[in-house]
Amino acid sequence: MIVADPAATGRVVADAVCRLLAERPDGVLGLATGSSPLPAYRELVRRHRAGEVSFRQARAFLLDEYVGLPPGHPQAYRSVIERELTGALDIPAAAVRGPDGTAHDLGAECAAYEAAIAAAGGIDLQVLGVGADGHIGFNEPSSSLGSRTRLKTLTARTRRDNARFFGGVDQVPRHVLTQGVGTILEARHLVLVAAGEAKAEAIARAVEGPVTAMTPASSLQLHPHASVVVDEAAAAGLRLTDYYREAYAGKPSWQGL
Ligand code: F6R
Repeated sequence: MIVADPAATGRVVADAVCRLLAERPDGVLGLATGSSPLPAYRELVRRHRAGEVSFRQARAFLLDEYVGLPPGHPQAYRSVIERELTGALDIPAAAVRGPDGTAHDLGAECAAYEAAIAAAGGIDLQVLGVGADGHIGFNEPSSSLGSRTRLKTLTARTRRDNARFFGGVDQVPRHVLTQGVGTILEARHLVLVAAGEAKAEAIARAVEGPVTAMTPASSLQLHPHASVVVDEAAAAGLRLTDYYREAYAGKPSWQGL
């Protein structure tokens, strides 16, 4: 759906999370990091502080993690999610898991991560951002649409895009652990959020282009329950905007996202 601005994307995504936890207090959340979900995370923290939602029984899995950053590094996604979201909620720290990019045996860590998601019963609601190159998680273009959690090498473009968090591209790690596209597609509800003109091309390719490994976000077209929440700027490359607006405006309230 197309909303006015990033703050509005945050309210829509927060509504979906709150609705899940109202129905299922021990729901399993999949959490992206990066800037796209920040309005949603701020809104969830606000609602939690206002007593509107509790995460006491919820569980959460991160999408991805850099390899080789020391534990507690401020840009390690485990640190980022604690700072931006989970540290301000009542979710127990032990209920928040991410792939461990410091593990000695990274292959075993990836297999253990997949097993942990399965043992939790799978992910109910997966929050996703999208890279300007169409990546989801850190599944860069050409990632297998059937891929599982594994080591990936970041493209030069993604490292440049993320340099703003590190104070220079040289400090951005080259390797990451990421849930695979196949792992992501097993979540029961996918909610992809994007804002700003830099995402317009990726959103157009993901939503209206062919399903292709060159645009990993286009794999959402194969999912039975995928929602794409964008602001006006990120929607600028879409062709069927009139239809999307009409469909959202006429959506029955019982349906949710
Ligand atoms: C991070 C992740 C990435 C980001 C993407 C967009 O956990 O999954 O796919 O969502 O790189 O990043 P932002 O939101 O910073 O533009």
